[in-house]
Amino acid sequence: MLPSVLQPSATDHVPVLADEVRQLLAIEPGETVVDATFGAGGHAALLAADLRGEGRLIAIDRDPTARAYFDRFRKQTGIQGRFLRGDFSIVLEQLADNGARADAILFDLGVSSMQIDRPERGFSYTADAPLDMRMDPSADVTAAGIVNEAAERDLATIFKRYGEERYARQIAKAIVRRRKERPFERTADLVETIKAAIPAPARFGDGHPAKRVFQALRIAVNDELGSLEAALPAALSMLRPGGRLAVISFHSLEDRAVKRFMRELERGCDCPPDFPICACGAEPILRATPRRAIRPSAAEVARNPRSQSARLRVAVKL
Ligand SMILES: C[S@@+](CC[C@H](N)C(=O)[O-])C[C@H]1O[C@@H](n2cnc3c(N)ncnc32)[C@H](O)[C@@H]1O
Repeated sequence: MLPSVLQPSATDHVPVLADEVRQLLAIEPGETVVDATFGAGGHAALLAADLRGEGRLIAIDRDPTARAYFDRFRKQTGIQGRFLRGDFSIVLEQLADNGARADAILFDLGVSSMQIDRPERGFSYTADAPLDMRMDPSADVTAAGIVNEAAERDLATIFKRYGEERYARQIAKAIVRRRKERPFERTADLVETIKAAIPAPARFGDGHPAKRVFQALRIAVNDELGSLEAALPAALSMLRPGGRLAVISFHSLEDRAVKRFMRELERGCDCPPDFPICACGAEPILRATPRRAIRPSAAEVARNPRSQSARLRVAVKL
């Protein structure tokens, strides 16, 4: 029997804010579209439909299992395009350096349902599996590596910053105590240590007690914020004038980075506020449309609870 990844199903991943992305990216036939986080190709299928058989779609994903989804997508849509495996910050920079240009670029950040739902990837706190969490299985850093080697203070910072975990210090301390006896290898070991480190009443409120630490570790293992911050300027340099950039984020730190990036390029002028007239001459480069982040409707959240924390920002290159 083929491994499950070679049998992708249409129900694998439900694309978030799909109508809004489609409406705001407003793809026209003949354009070049980059899906920088291809996953199972849910968004790509909608954008490809708007190309109506004319144009190209470049798919990027650092997870090699996405290639099987891309092959299926290409067979089903007949679209011209290619799949590039790698970190989007590196791939976009290479594409831009090689003179490739795009009319629309989409980032749908974070993990896919397929990554979470495959226990062997180690993203889930509900199934016992190796403590891995790498989106790119050839990358050096694993969750076990961080949990077993990072200093207690660094672990606490990761849990607090990326997971907004209230008991970050207590959990870091418990991890360091436990790893002196035996290194962490499995997700279940970590879940057990987290549960034991937090006060009993906190184990029952606000979702699974390991949810925030697992999210934080995933962000750290995959350097998700670092990749995003490097990728945004690369995406901008690939966009043609009039090109659209859409970013769906699931974490306030990601959304803040996107917002800051867009606002700085919208402003143009970099002069100190007390300068009477502009001396730098810098022009605005982007225009956010709309200015505020778009959130999923209550109906979408009810249909797809994973959309709850999603924020979409779109900007046009001037
Ligand atoms: C939320 S999923 C995308 C789902 C996709 N939009 C769909 O509708 O099927 C995010 C995907 O982006 C990939 N990804 C996350 N960070 C990445 C990065 N820095 N470089 C390349 N791919 C990345 C993940 O491996 C995952 O497959």
